[in-house]
Formats: sequence, structure tokens, C-alpha cells
Amino acid sequence: MHQGTDPVAIGPSPWPLTLARGLSPILLAAASSFAQADGIASPLPGATPGDPQRGRAIVADRHVGLCRLCHTAPIPEERFQGDLAPNLAGAGARWTVPQLRLRIADSARLNPATIMPSYYRTAGLQRVAPAHAGKTILSAQQIEDVVAYLATLKDAP
Ligand code: HEC
Repeated sequence: MHQGTDPVAIGPSPWPLTLARGLSPILLAAASSFAQADGIASPLPGATPGDPQRGRAIVADRHVGLCRLCHTAPIPEERFQGDLAPNLAGAGARWTVPQLRLRIADSARLNPATIMPSYYRTAGLQRVAPAHAGKTILSAQQIEDVVAYLATLKDAP
């Protein structure tokens, strides 16, 4: 599942182009660390340290993150859960915090064909309703909260 990053292969193309087009200015500022790693090393700007309880609530909520449209998560009180994507149980053991942060912020960076939304990206998206133009799906704080929650999910399903 983990795709090793080869710094040499990433260099010339198509990464710099994708980076320049797809990222919000804030993420663009972090682009150098992006290109070298399979994650986003620092917390997103403006966010306080993630709160796992708030993150759990975001993942549990059917209207905020929509995560469980596709994923099952270890949230027993929620009955309807998706099976289009890996079970989130064990995500905190499979991935580091920076890796989780990148996967939530902009999964398309790792897999351009993914159906998972880029939760923290404003440019380069297609079919964005006018009311949502220029807004990320989740705020920086919400991303940090979700990442903090996922990091606690150490047990495989
Ligand atoms: C429309 C479907 C969809 C939605 C909504 C979605 N994801 Fe995903 N997600 C995927 C798919 C498919 C993958 C598998 C990798 C890929 O195709 O990019 C994935 C991969 C992941 C991974 C890495 C998988 C692993 O091995 O643990 C994590 C973590 C993750 N998603 C978390 C979330 C969270 C948190 C949300 C909500 C904020 C969310 N996803 C919303 C479809 C979705």
C-alpha cells in the first residue's frame, strides 16, 4: 500500500506542475517538503494541535466529512458504513501522522485517480459548486483533529 517515494523520479515531472496547479497557497508554501516525502511534516498553518475526540466526531458525522460513505471506521454506534475504501481501523499503525495528514489533505497527490476527496485543496478541482469555490472541504483545524483521531486507531480490523 505504501508507495515509496523516489526523490530522483519525482524531480522533473509531473510533480512540480501538479503542485503548482493543485495546491492552495498555504500548501504551496510547504511544497518542498511535499515533494520529498510521502507526507506533510508540520501541522497545517493556523491549527492548534489536533484533538482526537473532535476528530472522531467529524469522522462519525454523516454530513461533515462523509468519510463513512466510503470507509468503515471503528465507531460502533454508527451502523451504516462504507465499503469502497480500506477500513480505517489500524490506520494509525499503517501510517505516520505526516502520512495521514497528506492522505486527508490531498489524497489525489498520491493517486490521481482516487475517488477520495482532497479535503484541503482549493485549486485544480473540477465541478466545484460556486458556493464552495475557494473553500477547502475541511478546515485546517478539522484536518488536524481527524489526523489526531486516526493516529489513535492502532488496531487492525
Ligand atoms: C468517496 C470515497 C471516500 C471518501 C468520502 C473518503 N475516502 Fe478515504 N479513501 C478512499 C479510497 C478509495 C482510499 C484508498 C486509497 C485511494 O484510492 O486513494 C482511501 C484512503 C484513505 C486512507 C488511507 C487508507 C489506509 O490504508 O488506511 C485514509 C487514512 C483515509 N482514506 C481517510 C479518510 C477520512 C478520514 C475521510 C473523511 C474525512 C475519507 N477518507 C473520506 C475513499 C474515500
